[in-house]
Amino acid sequence: MFGHFGNGAGNGGKNGGNGALVELAGIRKVYETGPVTVEALSGVDLTLRAGEFVSVVGPSGSGKSTLMNIVGCLDTPTGGSYRLKGEEVGRFTLDRLAEVRNRRIGFVFQNFNLLPQLSAFENVELPLLFAGMATRARRERAEELLTEVGLADRMRHKPTELSGGQMQRVAIARALACRPDLILADEPTGNLDSSSGRDILHVFEDLWQAGHTLLVITHDPAIAQRAPRSVTVEDGRIVADN
Ligand SMILES: Nc1ncnc2c1ncn2[C@@H]1O[C@H](COP(=O)(O)OP(=O)(O)OP(=O)(O)O)[C@@H](O)[C@H]1O
Ligand SMILES: [Mg+2]
Repeated sequence: MFGHFGNGAGNGGKNGGNGALVELAGIRKVYETGPVTVEALSGVDLTLRAGEFVSVVGPSGSGKSTLMNIVGCLDTPTGGSYRLKGEEVGRFTLDRLAEVRNRRIGFVFQNFNLLPQLSAFENVELPLLFAGMATRARRERAEELLTEVGLADRMRHKPTELSGGQMQRVAIARALACRPDLILADEPTGNLDSSSGRDILHVFEDLWQAGHTLLVITHDPAIAQRAPRSVTVEDGRIVADN
């Protein structure tokens, strides 16, 4: 099972000189909203190696999503250095940043972020279409991914015709479509009942076994415990990493 989950690329030679996939050093993020200045991240150092499964925990407002958005190149830091596979992200062109976001990183969100007018199949197919994959290969890849997340019989269903756990599995299949180097998930079980949450946890565990690199923000102790490494964020800083 889950044979196709592998990113198929291996990690040889793909990372920074020291084998790191993500290297954050002294990352700061300051939001200025009118007269209010919030320092969401105050000097974060974090290294992720290819093949790691890391959970991120911490109180509400501590900076977890801000951290994930920076790692995912959805947001830029106010200060510090972010190297992705040894390359300084701050020097990337806008095109390169878009390429990283669309193909090198797979995102999974609490509210699934599926396009409501598209079927499960079409949601998974879309990133492959943007990546320029030919129709037949696209169809095969989308079917393969949906089958692996257990939705072979739901491909033509729209998101409103699926359960929360099923929607999240579609979102995971979509995140995997372009064989990303890194999967980022922000509270992936936050909108699910505990049984669906466990299913999603098992999918993540299978992905990790297949060689994927996962960074998962969670309030769910079950996920935090299953991840072999857990990072705790408080007040914009990493206060524990073990
Ligand atoms: N776009 C923004 N503009 C201004 N302030 C922001 C923005 N995004 C986040 N913040 C502030 O930055 C701080 C960190 O927010 P963040 O969303 O990273 O927290 P979090 O740890 O993900 O919290 P939660 O567990 O509730 O999701 C908070 O004080 C928040 O109000
Ligand atoms: Mg958050």
